[in-house]
Amino acid sequence: MTNMQNVKIIGTGSYVPKKVLTNEDLEKMVDTNHEWIITRTGIAERRIAEDNEATSDVAAKAALKALKDSNTKPGEIDLIIVTTNSQDMIFPATACLVQKKIKAVNAATFDLQAGCTGAVYALITAWQFIATGFYDNVLVIGAETLSKFVDWTDRNTCILFGDGAGAAVLKAGQEKGILSGCLAGDGSYDDLIMIPAGLSKYPASHETVERKMHYVKMKGNEVFKLAVKHMKRTTVKTLGKCNLSVEDVDCIIPHQANIRIISALTRVLKIKKDKVFVNLNKLGNTSAASVMIALDEAVKEGKIKNGDIVVLTAFGAGLTSGSIVLKWLK
Ligand code: COA
Repeated sequence: MTNMQNVKIIGTGSYVPKKVLTNEDLEKMVDTNHEWIITRTGIAERRIAEDNEATSDVAAKAALKALKDSNTKPGEIDLIIVTTNSQDMIFPATACLVQKKIKAVNAATFDLQAGCTGAVYALITAWQFIATGFYDNVLVIGAETLSKFVDWTDRNTCILFGDGAGAAVLKAGQEKGILSGCLAGDGSYDDLIMIPAGLSKYPASHETVERKMHYVKMKGNEVFKLAVKHMKRTTVKTLGKCNLSVEDVDCIIPHQANIRIISALTRVLKIKKDKVFVNLNKLGNTSAASVMIALDEAVKEGKIKNGDIVVLTAFGAGLTSGSIVLKWLK
């Protein structure tokens, strides 16, 4: 472990589709109302990709912004990791499609799927590649067009999700920018959030289409209870690994799923509200893109400054959960 390289994020970028879907728009589509959605979730609007806009398109736009922000040329990227739950196709990997779009001709490419925790998994994976000296520059992208997998007649799920992408370039540095990380999985909760059909268990058939098995299914209440517990556990554990405590944190970016989950996490961690970054009111739950978009927005809005201790924490389908602690050194 002693010969490990220090790693830091040297640039971020994000992109969300232009089309806005408000709660008022949803009132015309399903039996719901703005008041219910805003009080139960905190979401007022979300962005929706165009029909011809795939996940690799939103991912590439965020990636180009992160490359520019980090002053990195596409050809300098050694590895692209795309984390998504709404990949363009079963194969090739969305990372390959992004590579082609941004002309990162020297990069290795793979996708990583870990539900809404994907971004934390991907950042920790990228960190290992650089820390061990295997690669110098890694591009991590969290990207989703989950709106294409949402049943727009199901009020339990369609109000929650939005599309978008966030990206970060990681590089070896003099100082340590990534301080610690922690990942967890619990497959015994595999039935809480899923898109059941379209792959090997239930290949696409007339029956799977008729039974709407290609859409997101979720046991919202059960997810809610586990989310707070898991994000608290991984946050405290990760901070402990680098000898920090919640009091040392300048900014925490939780997965943007529901304002009540974020408020409960704020309470149980006993962290001040103004240190908790929230943007779900305008974007909804962008799944694997959520903390990546939020990180970029927090930096650009000046909520994260040089030297700040930042925690990203998430939970999602699997169940998966994880946290990463950064010292912001840009
Ligand atoms: N508009 C109006 N009413 C709705 C509604 C909607 N969009 N969705 C559900 N309801 C109704 C329900 O039918 C239920 O009615 P009933 O009491 O007559 O049966 C009532 O509202 C309460 O439903 P419930 O599911 O208990 O609400 P909730 O407070 O748990 O909120 C979620 C539902 C989905 C918003 C919430 O459980 C949640 O956010 N869970 C976590 C989901 C999540 O984070 N998923 C992503 C993980 S990465």
